[in-house]
Amino acid sequence: MLVVASVRPGRIGLPIARWAAERIAATHPGIEVDLVDLVELGLPFMDEPKHPRLREYTQPHTLAWSARVEAADAFVFVTPEYNYSYAPALKNAIDFLFHEWAEKPYAQVSYGGVSGGTRAAAAFSVVAGALGMLRSRAALEMNFPGTRVLDGAFDPTESEETRLDAIAADLLRLDAALRPLRGA
Ligand SMILES: Cc1cc2nc3c(=O)[nH]c(=O)nc-3n(C[C@H](O)[C@H](O)[C@H](O)COP(=O)(O)O)c2cc1C
Repeated sequence: MLVVASVRPGRIGLPIARWAAERIAATHPGIEVDLVDLVELGLPFMDEPKHPRLREYTQPHTLAWSARVEAADAFVFVTPEYNYSYAPALKNAIDFLFHEWAEKPYAQVSYGGVSGGTRAAAAFSVVAGALGMLRSRAALEMNFPGTRVLDGAFDPTESEETRLDAIAADLLRLDAALRPLRGA
């Protein structure tokens, strides 16, 4: 599952995520990419009365989101840095669920200014730790990638392509290692 964390009108997250989804599918035919645009998903602010670890969901949108995340084996979060952290819509989508994220690997495609979204990725790792997710060592950080988004399409550098390929390869490796823990 590849999640676009930014929901702003004019976001560059969507073209970056589309590039990443297309490239992963093309370079790793064994991976089926489920591209999640949080705008399309349209979750409200977390509105479940009970802690998600009880899985006593009451809302149809939670049940649908739960099934979709449950079906995923690994995650790529495409997130900008906002005020030294990651995009808030992602936190909201994460908080709806609990077990569905557990014992699954993830990687970050982060972006921002000079920091390349590294603080956003670091902030996310605290949350991922609470959920029992395993962070891939492979990561892609991008400085000012907006300068390379033209007519709604992202134009990556060769190094960015290489690092995305490394993410896909590492997620496959970690997925194989974590599956037994999930009884999958
Ligand atoms: C509310 C807000 C806060 C931001 N804070 C940071 C920041 O702390 N560090 C940084 O490098 N860039 C920061 N930026 C710049 C964004 O990372 C950059 O504009 C990025 O392209 C936004 O991604 P998006 O277009 O997908 O929403 C911020 C942008 C916004 C809108």
